[in-house]
Amino acid sequence: MRRRTAEEVNFKKPAITVCGINGSPQKTGLCSRLLKRVLDGSQEYGAQARLIHLIDHEDTLFRLSHIKTPPKTIRTLLDQIRADADCLVLATPVHWFGMSTLMKCFIDHLSYLEYDKPGSNRFELEGKVVSFVATADEDGGLKTVLDMVGPLSHMGAIIPPYATYFHNRQMAKKSEDEWMNDPEFVGRVTVQVAESIKDISDWGRSRTRPRR
Ligand SMILES: Cc1cc2nc3c(=O)[nH]c(=O)nc-3n(C[C@H](O)[C@H](O)[C@H](O)COP(=O)(O)O)c2cc1C
Repeated sequence: MRRRTAEEVNFKKPAITVCGINGSPQKTGLCSRLLKRVLDGSQEYGAQARLIHLIDHEDTLFRLSHIKTPPKTIRTLLDQIRADADCLVLATPVHWFGMSTLMKCFIDHLSYLEYDKPGSNRFELEGKVVSFVATADEDGGLKTVLDMVGPLSHMGAIIPPYATYFHNRQMAKKSEDEWMNDPEFVGRVTVQVAESIKDISDWGRSRTRPRR
C-alpha cells in the first residue's frame, strides 16, 4: 500500500506527532524538500508527520490587525497545532538575511496561544518540542534559525540538541555533508526528545512566576 504523504496525514494518537511548517512561497523548493527529509527522519523514528505549507494560507496569514483573534482559518490551524502536535519543525528560506514574511507572520500569530485564555500566563506551546530549518543561497542561515529560536524559546518551547539546521546552497557539497548533521537526524532527535518528556505536564512556571 502506498504510504501517505505528509500533506495527507491526519494525526492519530498515541504516536508522537510532528507538524512541519513550510515558510517558503515554493511548495517544492529547497526549503520544502529539506523539511520533508526532517519529517521522514521523524517517521523513521515512529512519529506521525504532517506538513503545512504557509503559502496555502497566504490570504489570511497577513491579516495581523487583530492579533488576539486571528482570522478563522489561522485560528483553526493554531487550534490543531495546540491540540494535536507534540513537535513542530519551522522551516524557512532566508529572505534578506532573515526569515520569510510568511514565517514571520506565522510566528506573530502564535501570540494567539497566549492571549486565547483569559487570565492565562503561559503560552500553550510550553513543552512542545520545536526544531528549525533555514535554507540560503549564500548567507544568513545561522542568523535566521536563531531569529526563530528566540520567540519560540520565550513561548516555552523545548529545542532539541543540533536542531537548528541550516543549509547553504553555494557551500561545496563536501563541506555541507561533513559539517552538520543531516535533516533526517533533526527529525529523529526531535522525536527522541518528545518521547523522553511526554509525561511532564507541569514545567514549574506557575510556581516560579507570579500570575500577571
Ligand atoms: C526575496 C528573496 C530574498 C533572498 N535573500 C537571501 C539572502 O539574504 N541570503 C541568501 O543566501 N539567499 C537569499 N535568497 C535565496 C533563498 O534563500 C533561496 O533561494 C531559498 O532558500 C531556496 O528555498 P526555496 O526554494 O524553498 O524558496 C533570497 C531569495 C528571495 C526570493
